[in-house]
Amino acid sequence: MLLEISPLSLKIWLCSFLFILAVPWVRAESGKSVVAHRGSSGYAPEHTVAAYRLALLQNADYVEQDLHVTSDGVLVCRHDITLERTTNVESVFPNRFRRDMTGDGGELHWHVNDFTLEELKGLDAGSWFDDKFAGSRILSFAEAVAIVRGKSGIYPELKDPEFYAERGIDMVGLFLEELKRLGLESPESSPETPVIIQCFSAETLRQLKKRGCRHPMTFLVNRSQADWLRSGKIKDIAKFADGIGPDKNLLYEDPLIVGRAQAAGLTVTPYTFRKTSVPEKFKDVTEEMKHALETLGADALFTDNPDMFPRD
Ligand code: G3P
Ligand code: CA
Repeated sequence: MLLEISPLSLKIWLCSFLFILAVPWVRAESGKSVVAHRGSSGYAPEHTVAAYRLALLQNADYVEQDLHVTSDGVLVCRHDITLERTTNVESVFPNRFRRDMTGDGGELHWHVNDFTLEELKGLDAGSWFDDKFAGSRILSFAEAVAIVRGKSGIYPELKDPEFYAERGIDMVGLFLEELKRLGLESPESSPETPVIIQCFSAETLRQLKKRGCRHPMTFLVNRSQADWLRSGKIKDIAKFADGIGPDKNLLYEDPLIVGRAQAAGLTVTPYTFRKTSVPEKFKDVTEEMKHALETLGADALFTDNPDMFPRD
């Protein structure tokens, strides 16, 4: 029997298909999205199970993972390139430091990339924050995905890609392989767990695109890169990214950046909103976030305090 498809049903089918493809952007553009910065890191040690679970309880739309690479090639969730700020590495591996020769040569650093995943798993990544989190472990990217999959989106950031390139490590390749292994290689492969990729390196985002990545990408812009945001230049970002993630202070200094970015087809997701560092003119961080979203017109934002995100 021949299946008859009327023009109307074909249109409905096509619209539904396009809607499914657009789901991650629908989430970001209708209503505003909240990205839990390093998890709910205002209340629990960053990038730990506790911080990620709390972010879900606080209804984060996306949970952020800052990514570094271990010596045995595993992507792990750490903000810093070194371990000493957020772990007890100095007492567990007292001799495994590198001497930083850029300053006076007196600073010792324990780099994530000098340790295997197994060695990192032996570190305490919670006590630095509060004794009640003692024994919290460093998470691999795969473990982070397992915690949030189906409950929120993920917002991975490739950290220090230039450092890894100097060491001969193909961070982009590792990341794309891992997304594939986790069944997250494209927006269609796991629509219940939308993926947005972020990086401060334009070249890294270009590489991701060139190597077939179709997830939305956010180009992070700090003060030293602010030139990208000027009129006439900002449209160039749209060649390799779908949005900008500016330091929020850049928007406070030049609120027109938001409209300029959006006119170029870019979403705007400033960082980082913290209840511990609110500019004087705002009553609290909720009011500050509201200003960024409603007055300035940002689409989403990164915060350590997802529970204080303005939701009405
Ligand atoms: O990724 C957005 C924001 O997190 C960038 O700053 O240094 O916290 O990774 P950072
Ligand atoms: Ca980050």
